[in-house]
Amino acid sequence: MKSRVVVGAATVAAIVATAALFLGGRPSRLAYQPSDIDRHVMLQGLGPGFLLGVATSAYQTEGGNHNDWTAWEKGQYSDGRPHVADGATASRTADSWNLWREDVRALEQLGANVYRLGVEWSRLEPTEGAWDATAAAHYREILLALRAARPHPIAPMLNLYHFTLPDWVVARGGWEWPGAPAAVAAFAARVADAFGDVVDEWCPLNEPNVYVTKGFLSADWPPGVRDPKRAARVLAQLLQAHGLAAAALRAHDRVDADGDGAAARIGLAHNVIVFDPASSGPLDALVARIADRFYNLTVPEALATGRIRVALPMQADLDEPAPLLKGEGRIDWLGVNYYTRHVVRSHLSRQTPYEIVVDPRRPHNDMGWEIYPEGLERMLEKLAPYGWPLLVSESGIADRTGTVRPGFIRAHIYALDRARAKGVNVIGYMHWSLMDNFEWSHGFEGRFGLYTIDFAGDPSLSRRPTPAVATFQELARNVGLLPR
Ligand code: FCB
Repeated sequence: MKSRVVVGAATVAAIVATAALFLGGRPSRLAYQPSDIDRHVMLQGLGPGFLLGVATSAYQTEGGNHNDWTAWEKGQYSDGRPHVADGATASRTADSWNLWREDVRALEQLGANVYRLGVEWSRLEPTEGAWDATAAAHYREILLALRAARPHPIAPMLNLYHFTLPDWVVARGGWEWPGAPAAVAAFAARVADAFGDVVDEWCPLNEPNVYVTKGFLSADWPPGVRDPKRAARVLAQLLQAHGLAAAALRAHDRVDADGDGAAARIGLAHNVIVFDPASSGPLDALVARIADRFYNLTVPEALATGRIRVALPMQADLDEPAPLLKGEGRIDWLGVNYYTRHVVRSHLSRQTPYEIVVDPRRPHNDMGWEIYPEGLERMLEKLAPYGWPLLVSESGIADRTGTVRPGFIRAHIYALDRARAKGVNVIGYMHWSLMDNFEWSHGFEGRFGLYTIDFAGDPSLSRRPTPAVATFQELARNVGLLPR
């Protein structure tokens, strides 16, 4: 699409152009041919050691939880819009708390060997220092069932924080409470004590950058704040929490549940977005670079250097040490959650530094996110030099028809394989998501499930396979997890 570039004065333009050049990068011309994707044999050369699975989160799937989202869901913005589309709530959602056996059956059908699922902090620790032994026993039953799955065990990967906070943490200031990182670590230690003999794969945090963007920059999620300085502080808190929690997991999980030599393998699921400029003008290029640095690189830089630097030009500038991130709180793999690209047009405004230009000729998912599989290859290549094994810890599409998802998976596995062929160490792929669930502020509008659920019309919430189940099973066959 055509875009308009506003440049005040020639000198400003020159400075910006130089800066954009200095920051480097031209928009990628990578464009896949559908016929190449069709011909491609997915995950060729890999064996059953490849982590092939799906991801969910506790709040989005369990139902029956009470946390900071519970009040938020019932609220509205000053213009009367509900916080969540259609005023939906997660009070029952997919009811996985009760229907988990169906989830395990669906995972078995898929041939998955790993399941990234959450434990809900507010359920296990409903008040500070308490521990709900009944809830813990229930989780344990699920974890043991995964280990006992057919035709092979499904390794549970436990996620500790996936966007929701217990009310008692919120009462102390939420993520702005100075004690929040230590509280997460104390929770991690207890979870490791309770489940470490069944769980070897850990993911303390999901997408700190998404949480901070939605909760503290765009006010789409609780606590509904727009404040770059507070956003930077909270991002630092999350990263410190990661370090402390990872160290606690390492110290408390000493049992190698599956006998493969590792008691605790720890990673962070990091959301990435490709930022491409909408025009060849220097301002768009600069804004794309700044967004990329803030959104994509702040987290890996902190994990790699043990120093948290959060920079939002003229708005926030934070720099603090976090030595644990390189020590006991280090990661063993970096999770890459990839969904889309933003083609950005700059604004000379602090509130909204850019707008996303939507090209109607490009495919989009039901929520308006551009489908851009080439971006997965680009992001895997971009993150590879840090040296961690990379795990595609989420990839998926809101597709209520279920008909676009098979091609979406093929195209993204093609991207993953192209990155592998260039030497990128990709250790797994997890599809988001197992079944339709509560999609945060989009309520039940975003249908991401390999299995679909008729929330309004089917009180039994049965998980019905979409056509992409067969695509996933093809992946499982190709790596030897299902018979040919
Ligand atoms: C990711 C979140 C996940 C889900 C998908 C669609 O950013 O981790 O909870 O909402 O997007």
